[in-house]
Amino acid sequence: MSTDTAKLTRHQRLERNVTLLGVFAFLAVIVGGIVEITPLFWIDNTIEKVKGVRPYTPLEQAGRDIYVREGCYLCHSQMIRPFRDEVERYGHYSLAAESMYDHPFQWGSKRTGPDLARVGGRYSDEWHVQHLSAPRNLVPESVMPGYAFLAKNELKAGDMSAELATLAKVGVPYTKEQIEKANDDLKLQADPNGSASDLQKRYPKAQVRDYDGQPGHLTEMDALVAYLQVLGTMVDVDSAAAEEALAQEKGR
Ligand code: HEC
Repeated sequence: MSTDTAKLTRHQRLERNVTLLGVFAFLAVIVGGIVEITPLFWIDNTIEKVKGVRPYTPLEQAGRDIYVREGCYLCHSQMIRPFRDEVERYGHYSLAAESMYDHPFQWGSKRTGPDLARVGGRYSDEWHVQHLSAPRNLVPESVMPGYAFLAKNELKAGDMSAELATLAKVGVPYTKEQIEKANDDLKLQADPNGSASDLQKRYPKAQVRDYDGQPGHLTEMDALVAYLQVLGTMVDVDSAAAEEALAQEKGR
């Protein structure tokens, strides 16, 4: 027995002693953990910034709240995966930066209906209003429920300043001015006579118009359509992809 033990190499001894093995396995896991986790304390952000991504306007954010309230995510994803079939159907695959200001994100896991990550600008406002009100009038085989009541419900967005301030706390870079003017901006964006340049100073490229076809009425439909129309439109994906390729070429 004693000669056997003497023949054991050090590693065999380690493998045969469960306590020793446990201690060394624990140390190995600790080292692995430290190597993976500590760099995260020194980098500001794990998401690469992409030109064009901005926080949602108060109206878009209010529309997003309705999207969440109505459970649209139960049938729709907002995440185009980098596979050929998805890219051909929905457009450029989603970039991490495009949902960096989403709290909570709406990537979803179920596609009873199509992905909506790039639905912005694909249809007119009028199409959306008609479709949301009575989907089967436009797409006879649709199983999507109707949401006609959204056009009747006055938009009660509560205090958008407080909502934006809360989002700012979790890292959405809303400025003091954006937070202060949030309640006015909410109305301004759906006002057909509103000044777009005023809003665009705070939210580049934001669209000002009456979204629901009922000028003078600020409804939940206005907010939801404003939100749908901005989805996937902030980043010029083709030029972003071209810049990335160029940067990689230079790096080489
Ligand atoms: C029960 C599942 C279901 C729910 C819930 C649902 N949808 Fe849909 N949606 C569908 C289906 C199926 C389609 C495809 C047929 C059609 O266009 O109506 C669709 C299509 C759409 C389209 C057109 C997309 C395109 O690219 O053609 C939009 C926009 C849309 N839904 C928005 C919404 C919004 C906003 C909500 C929440 C208020 C919602 N959906 C809730 C099932 C659903």
